[in-house]
Amino acid sequence: MDFAKLFSSYPKVTVELGMGDGRLLESLAKSDSGLYVGIEINSEQCVQARSRISLDNVVIIDGSFEDVVPAFPNASIDRFIAVLPDPAYIDEKKQDRWKPFYKMVHAKLKKNGTFQLVTEMTDELLQPVSAGDYERWSAWLAASFSSIGFIVDRHEGAPARYSSRCLDQFRGDPERIRIATLDMTKH
Ligand SMILES: C[S@@+](CC[C@H](N)C(=O)[O-])C[C@H]1O[C@@H](n2cnc3c(N)ncnc32)[C@H](O)[C@@H]1O
Repeated sequence: MDFAKLFSSYPKVTVELGMGDGRLLESLAKSDSGLYVGIEINSEQCVQARSRISLDNVVIIDGSFEDVVPAFPNASIDRFIAVLPDPAYIDEKKQDRWKPFYKMVHAKLKKNGTFQLVTEMTDELLQPVSAGDYERWSAWLAASFSSIGFIVDRHEGAPARYSSRCLDQFRGDPERIRIATLDMTKH
C-alpha cells in the first residue's frame, strides 16, 4: 500500500492499534472527514470490523502493527490510539520489549501529533487494586512514556464517550480493573 499517497488525500490521519472489532474506530470516523486506519492481527476481528463499517474514510489492515507502522512515512500521522493493548505491549515486566515499538510510534507522529493510550491495572491475585498501587503504577506508566519523548497527561478511567468490546467489559469491574488514560503529545 502506498501510505504516503493515501495519507496525502486527507486533512488528518488517525491510526488505531489493535482495534478489535472496530466499534470505536467506526464511532470516531463517522463524525469526521479525516482518514481512520485500524490495524488488527486477528483476522476474524478484521472480518467483523469490515462487515460493521461502511465508511469511505476507514481502512482496515489485517496484520501486526509491528510490521505495518514501520511502513508509514516518518512524521505522517496526526493521532495514534491504543485501547487496552495486550500485555506484550504494555506490561511493566516486558517494557524492554515494547518500548522500541512506541519509539517508532513517536517517530511516525507529526510535530504536535498525539498518542492516546487507554490501559488497565489488575492485582496479581485479582483483589481490588488499592489507591496506592494504582498511583505507583500510573506514575510508572507516565514516566515510561515521557522517557520516550512524549509530553504526558494522565487521567484515571477511559474517555467517557469511548465504547469498545473490552472496555465495556472492563468497566463492569472497576475495583479490580482500574483503567488509566495517557494523553500524550509529541513536541
Ligand atoms: C485486549 S484486545 C483490545 C481490543 C480493542 N481495542 C477493544 O478495546 O475492544 C487487544 C487487541 O490487540 C490485538 N493485537 C495484539 N497484538 C497485535 C499486533 N501485534 N498487531 C495488531 N493487533 C494486535 C489483539 O488481536 C486484540 O484484538
